[in-house]
This record gives sequence, C-alpha cells and structure tokens, in this order.
Amino acid sequence: MPPPADLVIRRAKEADLDAINAIYNREVREGVATWELDEWPIERRIEWFTEHDDASPVFVATSVGAVIGFTYLSTYRGRRGYQYTRENTIMVDTPYQRAGIGRLLLARVIEAGRALGLRSIVAWITSTNTGSIELHRQFGYTVIGEEIETGRKFGEWHSAVEVQLLLDRPDVP
Ligand SMILES: CC(C)(COP(=O)(O)OP(=O)(O)OC[C@H]1O[C@@H](n2cnc3c(N)ncnc32)[C@H](O)[C@@H]1OP(=O)(O)O)[C@@H](O)C(=O)NCCC(=O)NCCS
Repeated sequence: MPPPADLVIRRAKEADLDAINAIYNREVREGVATWELDEWPIERRIEWFTEHDDASPVFVATSVGAVIGFTYLSTYRGRRGYQYTRENTIMVDTPYQRAGIGRLLLARVIEAGRALGLRSIVAWITSTNTGSIELHRQFGYTVIGEEIETGRKFGEWHSAVEVQLLLDRPDVP
C-alpha cells in the first residue's frame, strides 16, 4: 500500500495535539509500543508540547487534513552533557500502518537531527516490535543493547532494545 497521495509531513502545531493524543492513547489502550498504562489527558499533551521546541521538534503526517502519524525528538536523560543526543519516537495510526508513512516520518526526524548538529539519535523499542526495529535498521540504526523484562503490561513482561544512529560528529568545543 503506498502512502496517501496528499500526504504532508510538517511541524506540529497546537491544533494537532488532540489527534496526536488520540493516536498515542490508542496505543496506551491496545498496544505495547508504549508501556504507559494510563491514557494521557489533553492537559498533559499540551504541557509536553511546550517542552518540544525547535531543539526537540515534533512532526506530523497528515492526509485530508487529518493527523495520521507523528514523530518527535526528545532531550535525552536531562543532563547537559547529553545535549548532542536525542531520543526519537514514532507512531502511525493503526489504519495507516505499513503504507510507508513511518519511513517518511523517520527520514524527516533524522534530517532534523542532522540540522541540529546531533551526534546521535537513540530509540527504545519493545523487543517484540520487529517491524519498528526493522524500520530503524533500514535507516542505519543498530541495536546496542537490550533491557530484559523491565516492562509489564497486559499481564506480561516486556523487554526493550535500544537502537542508535550515529550522525557526523559535530565540530563543537
Ligand atoms: C512501527 C511503525 C512506526 C512503522 O510505521 P509504518 O508506517 O507502519 O511503517 P512503513 O510502512 O513506513 O514501513 C517501512 C518498513 O519498515 C518495516 N516494517 C514496518 N512495519 C512492519 C511490520 N509490522 N512488520 C514487518 N516489517 C515492518 C518494513 O521493512 C517496511 O517496509 P515494507 O513495507 O516495504 O516491507 C508503525 O507501525 C506504528 O506506529 N506502530 C505502532 C506504534 C509503534 O510501534 N511505534 C514504534 C515505537 S518504537
């Protein structure tokens, strides 16, 4: 299935937050890509968005004016020494999966990481999510480790792999 012909990938704006939150909350309720157990109220999503400025941008994929996927960079581990690393997250709404939208979103967020002069982008992926691991692998991410059964959701233990994409080492002091 090809992506919708009118697909647009652009920076997210506040008007997109309801749709982003709905896609996320579906995964909270039904999936194990996030180990969040409680749906996010919109107030939390709005606060989250204030933390995602130009240095940690959010992108959405839209078709027919509706948000059908999103991706973003987050600061990593909070300490300033990690300033040249970000974590990426990506989610495509269920009916639109496997249509090449994840590939386009991931390409966009990596491009943003390059423009920011990052040294690396990491992602944590539930170990059973072989589709996402494969998608990241195709962009040059390698699996650098695995946390065993750190998560529990739907009465089962879940492990996570950490994948990392190394970008050009920035010329910084
Ligand atoms: C994982 C996810 C982001 C992939 O996005 P997508 O738009 O469905 O993926 P794409 O169609 O762009 O797939 C690109 C390639 O990745 C791989 N891939 C993606 N999903 C796959 C799956 N379910 N099984 C196997 N390979 C898969 C394939 O190689 C695919 O290329 P192909 O279709 O030509 O074979 C999306 O399925 C999703 O949001 N899933 C639920 C949430 C989630 O798992 N997020 C990731 C958290 S780390």
